[in-house]
Amino acid sequence: FHSFSKLMAYYRCAMMEIETKLNVLNQEFSLRYDRNPISSIKSRMKTPASIREKLTRRGIDVTVENIEACLNDVAGVRVICAFPEDVRTLTKALLKQDDVELIEKKDYILNPKPNGYRSLHLIVAVPIYLAHEKRKMRVEIQLRTIAMDFWASLEHQMRYKKNTLFTPDMEKELFAWRSADGSEILAFRADADGVGKYNHQTEDFIRMNRERLDSCDHDLMVVYGGEKMVQAREGEGSGK
Ligand code: GTP
Ligand code: MG
Repeated sequence: FHSFSKLMAYYRCAMMEIETKLNVLNQEFSLRYDRNPISSIKSRMKTPASIREKLTRRGIDVTVENIEACLNDVAGVRVICAFPEDVRTLTKALLKQDDVELIEKKDYILNPKPNGYRSLHLIVAVPIYLAHEKRKMRVEIQLRTIAMDFWASLEHQMRYKKNTLFTPDMEKELFAWRSADGSEILAFRADADGVGKYNHQTEDFIRMNRERLDSCDHDLMVVYGGEKMVQAREGEGSGK
């Protein structure tokens, strides 16, 4: 469908605009402070299937017009920062730019979700310049720290892949772990105490859960310094 792919192309351009703005800010900060506030940026376009699913779920007709009118997260950019202050600094610097319009802000860092999820969500509109017109497109930006991202990745896996990866028992244990000392032990303590401790705890965490994951025929891959600390893969068929 022609105008659908055109719309998707516009979203992709807007996503690139935001990525570039963030990369420029990252460059500038690293010159000024000799360190990078952004640890990684991950962008994604919502798949046609999940666009369809979301509109249908809300009882909205699946048309190209409705996609643009009703969805804010067709284009998504996730920014992983080293420290919580970096999230604030980047957000401020980005929103100050006069071609970035803030549509909506949800601060799940100041006000975490009941399940413990933390992240700063922005919906912004940015102009893209085409040969014959200028269009404003909306992009969802999620800013979080490495620790918050680690937590969110685990939680996401537990929610969507629990049958293939986590048994109910393991899930219970992970959540218990999370709140053992009254705070989110793995992911959240790192914000207060620093990254080094976080890595150490991560290793312990993996050691403790390694056996369980092995015993249910799944694989746990650890990537230090990458955008994901832990990635779980299905044992069979996923290829190594
Ligand atoms: P939807 O966009 O329809 O999901 O609802 P919303 O507009 O209320 O979105 P919200 O800003 O609360 O969250 C949007 C995105 O944030 C989701 O698509 C996820 O990527 C992420 N997110 C929100 N809550 C959670 C959570 O509890 N756990 C994890 N892992 N991710 C979350
Ligand atoms: Mg949303």
